[in-house]
Amino acid sequence: MLKISSLKKLVTDSMAIDLGTASTIIAVKGRGIVLDEPSLVAINEMNEEIVAFGQEAADMSGREGRDVAVRAPMIGGVVGDFERTKKMLAYFVKKAKTGGSNIAIQGVMSIVSDVTHVEQRALLNAAEDAGIGKVFMMEEGLAAAFGAGVLATDKRASAVVDIGAGTTNIAVIAKGTIVHSTSDRYGSNAINDALATHIRRHRGLQVGEETTEFLKTNFASTFLPEDLSTSIEIRGRDVQTGSPGAVEITAGEVYPIVEGIVRRIALRVKDTLTELRPEVAADIYDRGVILTGGGALLEGIDKYLREFIKLPVTVPEEPRYAIVNGLVKMFDDQELLERVASNELSILQNAEIPFEV
Ligand SMILES: Nc1ncnc2c1ncn2[C@@H]1O[C@H](COP(=O)(O)OP(=O)(O)OP(=O)(O)O)[C@@H](O)[C@H]1O
Ligand SMILES: [Mg+2]
Repeated sequence: MLKISSLKKLVTDSMAIDLGTASTIIAVKGRGIVLDEPSLVAINEMNEEIVAFGQEAADMSGREGRDVAVRAPMIGGVVGDFERTKKMLAYFVKKAKTGGSNIAIQGVMSIVSDVTHVEQRALLNAAEDAGIGKVFMMEEGLAAAFGAGVLATDKRASAVVDIGAGTTNIAVIAKGTIVHSTSDRYGSNAINDALATHIRRHRGLQVGEETTEFLKTNFASTFLPEDLSTSIEIRGRDVQTGSPGAVEITAGEVYPIVEGIVRRIALRVKDTLTELRPEVAADIYDRGVILTGGGALLEGIDKYLREFIKLPVTVPEEPRYAIVNGLVKMFDDQELLERVASNELSILQNAEIPFEV
């Protein structure tokens, strides 16, 4: 008879991890999405120690104590601060895993399509440090497509545009492989930055991330509003006096800022679609484009893109979860996982990690 302890060792968590610029999302096979938290750490600046991770760190953001700074260790979809990413990932993995200490973990993580070996190795090391015994890595575009329902057996091409916080990834896939992709270090957070800059320069008010995020998700639209004078009060710090202050922002003022950023993303999609081979282009002409990532939630963005590229645009349910859903599906087909996962350890081991990646 097997002892309980040896039985326990047979248990494996199959974990899918989408480590994004804004949020980390983890799904475990059989349990669905178990974690969705901001990719943030709070640091005690006196001794550089991390005092909080994820949601708890986000709750401190903007109003942190004197010695505490909230930082995002992922930048533009890749590891920006190696040590902190490592600790943050370890915290998330521990939180997401099924209880018990003897559980082995195999993981699959998404990577941006133009990831360098140095960046990929940093991620791999972080995953190993987080206790993941076996790590597979998969291109984000492929994962997003599978998550949005594209089949690996489909001969015809599909196009997926993932608009994240810090990246926009455009991938065209057929038969479970990427036939064309582009990746930009530019995403939905560019809207927040542009709003903050506008409000500071034209309205004399400094506003925090919470305020621009509120404006973007509740007030902004990619279409010219019917009533340009609809307004909303926002609060912050007066640039002139430094005192707390408030201004009324109108829809007519917000619209061109948002449209400018969305146009840039749409242009990139349009350009990428001109680079396809004729057969692939023909498939995309019929099928259009799938829009995923948190950026797809912006009011009217699907309609805007549809009119811009003159092709059908669809948004799957829960576009923010498309990548992680695609990743976790890989555990149902180990053969496919081995085929699509890039985990060339020999190459990675030759890449040196600089002090700060
Ligand atoms: N309801 C909404 N309306 C508009 N934008 C939204 C909404 N919800 C989320 N977003 C935006 O989506 C972005 C986050 O998307 P997502 O979670 O896909 O990013 P990420 O995967 O962390 O980033 P990346 O893929 O660039 O590394 C943020 O910029 C956020 O402001
Ligand atoms: Mg993402």
